[in-house]
Amino acid sequence: MLDSDLKSILGEKYKDRFFEQTSSLSNVLNKEGILVFDSFISQRGLIKLKKEAAELKPKSFKSSSEYNVYVSDYDEKFPPESPRNRIMSTTKKCIPNDLIPKDSILQKLYDSSLLKNFFCKLLGKDNLYPYEDSLSSININYYDKGDALGWHFDNSDFTITLLVKNCTKGGVYEFFNDMRFKDGEEDYDFVQKILDNNLEGTKVKSFEGDLMIFKGNKSIHQVTPVEEGERILVTFNYNETLGISLSEQSRRTFFGRIK
Ligand SMILES: [Fe+2]
Repeated sequence: MLDSDLKSILGEKYKDRFFEQTSSLSNVLNKEGILVFDSFISQRGLIKLKKEAAELKPKSFKSSSEYNVYVSDYDEKFPPESPRNRIMSTTKKCIPNDLIPKDSILQKLYDSSLLKNFFCKLLGKDNLYPYEDSLSSININYYDKGDALGWHFDNSDFTITLLVKNCTKGGVYEFFNDMRFKDGEEDYDFVQKILDNNLEGTKVKSFEGDLMIFKGNKSIHQVTPVEEGERILVTFNYNETLGISLSEQSRRTFFGRIK
């Protein structure tokens, strides 16, 4: 059951009953690589979330990170400009979980067993667990003018996000669905065409209050630079096993500290 706090902030469609029927949604997710739950948060809930995010922003950590599309070490078998090794970059600001108040709606959404079971069924997982460290389970990400998320594949096979505030220009989520492997091998030629801007991916029209589940492990994706306004995106990060911490290197990069 949804607790009364959650009931009061979820969009009209999202009653207890909604979360019981997952098989058709699961099929869509597997086929399209993405599920968007529009107006998951009501206008009233959004007002609260925007206020909370704005109040926390001065404490956020600004990061810029560089990586290749595969978010893995440089591979000497390939030249630096190859799609395997080419450098992408991300700039954003981030609030880690330990700065989010315990009574926040975000924490209630994350901890809700109804929602967690719903995600498990959609994703075909037995269970989902929070990060062991106190920073990485829920993050509020702020993208200001010029901030962007460069092309990459995710390490984890799913991502759950909530768009709290949308920028007015730029900041578009773009992806190519399930294109990573060809005959069981990395398809570097395809990635090269994308990095050289010779192909256009699927652009997701997102609206404030939308919850999105995305399978980013086999689908390359990016967020184009924000041109006007501010984009605030919450990520709900779960693990399939208990006791996992985000790597110290990633915590240093995105939060500026490890605890
Ligand atoms: Fe990603």
